Amino acid sequence: MKTINIAIDGPAGAGKSSVAREVASQLGFVYVDTGALYRAIALFSADYPTTKAFLDDLEVSCHLELKYFAGTQCIFLNGDNVTDKIRTPEISMKASEVSALPKVREFLLETQKDIAKEYNVIMDGRDIGTVVLPDADLKIYLTASAEERASRRYLELEDKPDAPSYEQLLEEIQQRDYNDIHRAVSPLHRAKDAVIIDTTNMGFHEVCEEILNLAEKRLELE
Ligand code: DC
Repeated sequence: MKTINIAIDGPAGAGKSSVAREVASQLGFVYVDTGALYRAIALFSADYPTTKAFLDDLEVSCHLELKYFAGTQCIFLNGDNVTDKIRTPEISMKASEVSALPKVREFLLETQKDIAKEYNVIMDGRDIGTVVLPDADLKIYLTASAEERASRRYLELEDKPDAPSYEQLLEEIQQRDYNDIHRAVSPLHRAKDAVIIDTTNMGFHEVCEEILNLAEKRLELE
């Protein structure tokens, strides 16, 4: 049976994962956060002295598994649940670097396609509508100004010890945008047939509603 696939792409911090998770739960779809795959590879690479050494060993020694517990995605690297470990600023930057390597993208391509063949999915990332699922039933490009994305992140983190400043967060977001947009392989850009949703002045529920409405119209869901 053909599965239904929804692709959500956009820059870091646009709210893709929280929106995709909520919409997936409303539709009864599997939510796939592909950024976690790149982050887990970034963690894997940390044990190697050079990029070449890590790439040479990637196919043989890096086993990634996505598992779902009550609808929440967990990622396992060589049997270890690394779901929390991959959410550090260092891994964010490293993931942005490793995701520019063609061998890394090739390594993850089939994994992502296979999940979408097996389940109805909402998959979020940077190249889902353009490369991974070019035939997705609905494609969304979710974006917001860099200032708004930095300020949302700042509010999320401000009570934590050693929370970064707004300026640091803005700089990090701008750097990751630059890396994602300018890499040679599968750069971040909107698929021609993607619907753009600019969330700069929108609330979370408003964004979810808009995607659910689009899904209902496009996919003839109940
Ligand atoms: O969405 P995120 O911040 O967790 O993603 C981590 C990094 O992985 C990000 O810098 C871009 C990269 N990425 C990618 O290149 N392609 C994807 N489909 C998903 C993420």
